[in-house]
Amino acid sequence: MTAFYSTPVPIAYDYMPLHDPEVISPPSSLSAFNPDQHLCFQQPTATHTLDDLQFPTSVTSQTTSQVGITEPFPLFTSSAVKALRREIFQPEVLKECAWYPNPETCQLRGMAPKYGKFMYDAWTHPSTLSAISAAAGCDLEVIMDYEIGHTNIQMGPEGRGDIFNITLLADNPIPLKLSNSMEEDDLAKPIVHWHHDSYPFVCVVSLSAPLESQKGGETALKRQDGSILKVGSPGEGWAVILQGGLIEHVALRAFGYGERITMVTSFRPKDARVYDNSVLTTVRPISKLAELYEQWFRYRSEVLKKRCEQTKGKEVLEMKRWCEEQIMWLKRTMDEMVVYE
Ligand SMILES: [Fe+2]
Repeated sequence: MTAFYSTPVPIAYDYMPLHDPEVISPPSSLSAFNPDQHLCFQQPTATHTLDDLQFPTSVTSQTTSQVGITEPFPLFTSSAVKALRREIFQPEVLKECAWYPNPETCQLRGMAPKYGKFMYDAWTHPSTLSAISAAAGCDLEVIMDYEIGHTNIQMGPEGRGDIFNITLLADNPIPLKLSNSMEEDDLAKPIVHWHHDSYPFVCVVSLSAPLESQKGGETALKRQDGSILKVGSPGEGWAVILQGGLIEHVALRAFGYGERITMVTSFRPKDARVYDNSVLTTVRPISKLAELYEQWFRYRSEVLKKRCEQTKGKEVLEMKRWCEEQIMWLKRTMDEMVVYE
């Protein structure tokens, strides 16, 4: 482990870090995902539509859902969040699945189902999918296993050595020093920079609860006129749905003492005929490409297969247009599998 992370750095604490192996239950003791125990979905009280975000009719008339971003809604219970935290902080996950896009952010990817059976079951259970679809305004399916449970962890100003300390806090969070000041400009130094997602929809769940001593940490998005909408999370297990493929957004830094851990799973409309503009642009640099491409190829093939099964006799121009669309679909499938020398 030491050899893998060559430069862990000591961190300044207000609290003595806890080191008690008893409080970290091994993942083998996790109970199975059970929607009665682990889901607490309530429909979001409000949503910001694409129209609210000033998208033109040329866009809104093409999309399956008019939901731009929901206000936060309860999705997973506290016991589900604890189970998810125990899975993401396993040593194997930190070794095999961690990426560092900047010194103060750790991203964990590609854990499910190999290292995350609970996580896999939680995101793919029919009750979870119907809850997320209800919030999103259309039926969704997980894009591929590799995108289940992508986790963004903000570390402190000391950088990546923090990940070892957070590891100890899976069950009993102890506030970490997230910044040197409460006054820093959150838009100037986000933990994930401005981007469009590679996939049409994401569901972002908080795996940490903001403390009184903590500020910021919202998801911010750009309206079409360039103005900014910030959506925060009231607590652990709360989620938002975002059409992240359409809306430019950013994960804002949290300041003060606390934690900022979010888990993101990506989705596409379940209806294979619906327009799907997925790419791999944002995920290619933070993925094991052999795994990613194999799953990408399978997802693209399965959608194409469904489309073929759903085609009925049409008139000639329609058939030609259908062929054209599938050629573009296959071309995108091929082009996104970039091979690096
Ligand atoms: Fe995103």
